[in-house]
Amino acid sequence: MDINSLSDKELCEIINTDKYDCELIAEADAVRRRYYGTAVYLRGLIEICNVCKNDCLYCGIRRSNGNLDRYRLSKEDILSCCEQGHKLGFRTFVLQGGEDPYYTDEVICGIVSEIKERFPDCAVTLSLGEKGRESYAAFRAAGADRYLLRHETADDAHYSRLHPAVMSLAHRKSCLFTLKELGYQVGSGFMVGSPYQTADNLVEDLRFLQELRPDMIGIGPFIPHKDTPFRDFPGGTLELTLRMVAILRLMFPTALIPSTTALGTIHPLGRELGLKAGANVVMPNLSPVRVRKLYELYDNKICTGEEAAECKGCLERRVQSAGYEIVSARGDVYGFDSKPQ
Ligand code: 5AD
Ligand code: FES
Repeated sequence: MDINSLSDKELCEIINTDKYDCELIAEADAVRRRYYGTAVYLRGLIEICNVCKNDCLYCGIRRSNGNLDRYRLSKEDILSCCEQGHKLGFRTFVLQGGEDPYYTDEVICGIVSEIKERFPDCAVTLSLGEKGRESYAAFRAAGADRYLLRHETADDAHYSRLHPAVMSLAHRKSCLFTLKELGYQVGSGFMVGSPYQTADNLVEDLRFLQELRPDMIGIGPFIPHKDTPFRDFPGGTLELTLRMVAILRLMFPTALIPSTTALGTIHPLGRELGLKAGANVVMPNLSPVRVRKLYELYDNKICTGEEAAECKGCLERRVQSAGYEIVSARGDVYGFDSKPQ
């Protein structure tokens, strides 16, 4: 099947198949093996703060959630997570957090440049939400290599049902294009099965990604959080998420696609199945255990009780059992080494 020649309607039909689609998944696995073999890249996730000025309706750390202790990691905390991670073989650190004005550009640049200085063989990925061009440029100059910012949904009307009126899809998109212009390896993505989402919306997500051409694509099922307005909505399903992973692998043969924690949360073997459907990245949690439970974007998030080494060991076994192997390289996107830097 040539996925790129399919019409919107044909894509919709694949999306709407209500089962574990063996054929599609086998095709996706073959494509992944052609480019990446059995390699699975490791990213150490450091959740730097759960303070957020935004109020996204789906998210457990939204501003209006008063039922949550808020925390911020200091530069020293973050560096010690990196140090521990580096000893464990991590060569990418992902600093993720809410949109928190406490972390000014200066603070972030200070953290990034010190990580790059102390661990020059490592890549730094930021996932800190929407910022202005100057901020993104400053982070890049300080040494940040990659940036993750999911678009969440590429349909304007759907976007406005998931977010407060002060946020807009147009702004989100413009941030993504700015990040590309600044030379970041860029990651985007969306939730599967978010409230009000239709199969047409998912096709729009795919079309937007074709336009953006991101290096990384992160997707996971929507999972309701008890302290959000979406508490009573059903979550996204395993089957649909796996189908979307497989479609993404076929459309973007060289993309870095994580098998996400959300996928592991809705099914005990969710991440193994994600890898088999074409995902080639895993992101063990490196955050200090004392704050883990506080970064609960959705209910019942896994990996909140384990130390970094345990979480990495656990994922290593899972990756192996699925028939792949963790590699300890930086894991830049395919062809990156031959691109001018
Ligand atoms: N369920 C699933 N994923 C969620 N995210 C935020 N809230 C939820 C939820 N309730 C995802 C968003 C965000 C990423 C960091 O986590 O897609 O971009
Ligand atoms: Fe994190 Fe199993 S993967 S504890």
